[in-house]
Amino acid sequence: MTTESSLADVYDVEQFRMLGKELIDALADHLGDLQNKKAHKVYPDNAPDEEFQFWKESLGITSEPIQTLKTILQRSQQTQHPKYMGHQTAAPAPISALTGLVTNMINNSTGVYEMGPVSNAMERVITDFTAKKIGYGSSSSGIMTSGGSLANLTALLAARKDKAPHNVWEEGHNKKLAVLVSAEAHYCIDRAARILGLGDKGIIKVPVDSNFKIRTDLLPCYLEKAKADGLHVFCIIGCAGSTATGSYDDLKELSKFSEAHNLWLHVDGAHGGAVVFSEKYRNRAKGIEKADSVAIDFHKMLMTPVLNTALVFKEGNKVYRTFAQRAQYLWDSPETEEWYNSAKRTFECSKPFLSAQVYLILKTHGMGIFEKNVNQLYDSAKTLSELVSEKSSFQLVHEPESNIVNFRYAPHKNMSISELNTLNTDIRKKIVASGNFYIVQTTIADQRTLRCTVMNPLTSKSDFIELLNEIEKQGSFILNKTTLLA
Ligand SMILES: Cc1ncc(COP(=O)(O)O)c(C=O)c1O
Repeated sequence: MTTESSLADVYDVEQFRMLGKELIDALADHLGDLQNKKAHKVYPDNAPDEEFQFWKESLGITSEPIQTLKTILQRSQQTQHPKYMGHQTAAPAPISALTGLVTNMINNSTGVYEMGPVSNAMERVITDFTAKKIGYGSSSSGIMTSGGSLANLTALLAARKDKAPHNVWEEGHNKKLAVLVSAEAHYCIDRAARILGLGDKGIIKVPVDSNFKIRTDLLPCYLEKAKADGLHVFCIIGCAGSTATGSYDDLKELSKFSEAHNLWLHVDGAHGGAVVFSEKYRNRAKGIEKADSVAIDFHKMLMTPVLNTALVFKEGNKVYRTFAQRAQYLWDSPETEEWYNSAKRTFECSKPFLSAQVYLILKTHGMGIFEKNVNQLYDSAKTLSELVSEKSSFQLVHEPESNIVNFRYAPHKNMSISELNTLNTDIRKKIVASGNFYIVQTTIADQRTLRCTVMNPLTSKSDFIELLNEIEKQGSFILNKTTLLA
């Protein structure tokens, strides 16, 4: 029988060494099996209650914790599988698993320098590097946050501090404030605006054109209407790119508009801001260097595990003014600008050692590795879209501007939108249940689409061909069954 550990056992060095060696072998075997597409389902498709029951029943002391870790590997979503083409989550570079071992062991937080000397210094290196790639000058600086949602919220707070007609941080709201944003923006922008107290009326959603980009021609009239409604617009948010289709707003036009009307321009580049690392694709985000702030997720196309985001400001000093907090136990004065005490500029107090993940990928694989990854993912998405276009039974919903491709299986001309929506929903369910692929779905202009995001650079053309064949097979099986039952 296994006995409970003493506290000394918890910190036993030799047990740690032994378990660590066994675990690294297990992880390498797992990764190899996934890359060779051996045996593993991409997604296990266990029902939520079943999964809960499994882990509830298995809780209890074990002498083989590596076995439990292996079970986690088996029962999880396999983002390292080349047939994972679902949400915008990276297949992390394996070096990041090793980096995580070290950062978890030292447990240095980043809030204040004394609790994270390396972490604060590296964070400055990584955000300076990102700022340069964006095209910012020497007065820029940035911070890292646990995710794009928090980065966007922080950017809106900075925008409000800079552009609102009064100091909301000190005085609370005494004028109705608002932001302008594309109707295709990620929901976290809407959420951030509500957290800022802007309410329904303070989030002005501007329609998009047929390429899912914000209609810049409509901006003047939306701004005028907001003024007439007694709202003070302080910020406009550009998508680079949007979540559903990966479309890039015209950032040049947005910057002209924001300059003309003294608005803060924030670019939500959580997904597609990664193009700043690519010579081939950076023109998708033309004008990004004119924005006041840019958020870029490393955990999407830049190969780190979740969550890992850079939020970079053109004028770095502005973010110091965002949060003016007394915290005598952390720093002497709320007024001084100290880059090395990261919590002065971030929402988070304790914060994981995020920069090490990015630093180690660059150090291990070279400064051009992000460019290679972005180019590969974007090129692959183009290949997938061409394969879809070649098939008469499929409809491509948009030419991909990034690594996101939306399409529909639509074998018969006379099928209604609602029949096609049901068919494509059912196809996805079957595909996901089979475990052969993981793809997601979304709804664009009331039409259900199959949505693939190419996240793994090892996903190949033959994987796409197999996927489309499987969709056709499942689609005709569902249609035949429906006809037989009718
Ligand atoms: C465009 C965009 N912005 C923001 C987010 C939210 O980022 P995070 O998941 O890092 O909080 C996402 C997530 O998919 C996104 O696609």
